[in-house]
Amino acid sequence: MTDRVAANTPQRIATLQRMFSKNRTHRKLEERFLNLLERRRVELQAGMIAEARCIALIGASGSGKTRAAEHLFATQPDLVLHNCDSSRLDIASFQVPSPATLKFVGQTALETLGYELRRDRSAQIIWSMVKAHLQARRTMFLHIDEAQDLMRHQTPRELNAVVSTLKSLLQHKSWPVGLLLTGTAELKTLINHDPQLARRVFPIEVARLNILVDSDRILKAIAHYAKAAGIAVSADTLNPDLAARLVHAADREFGLMNEMIIQSLEEAMITGDEEVRREHFTSMFRKRAGCVDGLNVFVDDDFERIDVRRLLDHGDDA
Ligand SMILES: Nc1ncnc2c1ncn2[C@@H]1O[C@H](COP(=O)(O)OP(=O)(O)OP(=O)(O)O)[C@@H](O)[C@H]1O
Ligand SMILES: [Mg+2]
Repeated sequence: MTDRVAANTPQRIATLQRMFSKNRTHRKLEERFLNLLERRRVELQAGMIAEARCIALIGASGSGKTRAAEHLFATQPDLVLHNCDSSRLDIASFQVPSPATLKFVGQTALETLGYELRRDRSAQIIWSMVKAHLQARRTMFLHIDEAQDLMRHQTPRELNAVVSTLKSLLQHKSWPVGLLLTGTAELKTLINHDPQLARRVFPIEVARLNILVDSDRILKAIAHYAKAAGIAVSADTLNPDLAARLVHAADREFGLMNEMIIQSLEEAMITGDEEVRREHFTSMFRKRAGCVDGLNVFVDDDFERIDVRRLLDHGDDA
């Protein structure tokens, strides 16, 4: 390994991590969001007030929900996204805090809107302040990440309060605010808890990888990242068997697959190799899962039996 290779590896990896791959989920999300955004802008211009709508982006851990939302907002022109000199904040985005009490969630929303609460207030007052600040900052969308946590450990009464708070944002009389909820499958239970909320939601499930149809695309993704990294990859390495193993290793999640390709390229870089090969995928998986080679997806013939979400598996306590 030369010093030059070792020294610039972090920069090369950072470049790869900044790359964003689009699939049909991102296109669907963007189309839905732009439709709602455009509608809202027209209503504002016309001085009309209509109920807002909610988009729910649902997928497993590592599917790429947080990244999809960040990318969606960052790539729209003319949106004010950060607390800066402008009093306008078109999109406010926060992650559900823990504990996810209505009061604490409201307080987090207020902080996101640039307001720090100095006195203890009731959940009701906090949420009326949130609505006032959303209006003052002309916020059109509120993005709540890890939204499934809104229902974790809630009593039925608290759950009703959460759902009616979400509805009241959409139905606000003077400043309705659209919602983007991103979360895991439990988020469906939250939405389906109330038919009035459910009918205002456009659900989008993050598409999972399917080796029967996605094999070529996956091999192209490996080639694309390798090229951006300045690392060679032979046609021999880029075979359907590698794609099938990678899909399984990533538990069919798109985000994890991209992450694993980058980490495999990093393995090639840190060993000073100019070419990425299957062995780099093997060591990537070994490092991630902490497993023995018998349970490594890139080694075992019967790789589909391996539970890839299980860490540090040594095959002795199954
Ligand atoms: N479109 C994409 N292009 C490239 N990399 C992506 C893409 N989407 C996600 N990733 C990568 O996949 C990994 C997981 O993404 P992310 O954190 O967005 O998943 P998530 O669904 O929010 O997971 P969790 O539910 O655990 O928060 C990250 O390393 C992220 O950079
Ligand atoms: Mg996330």
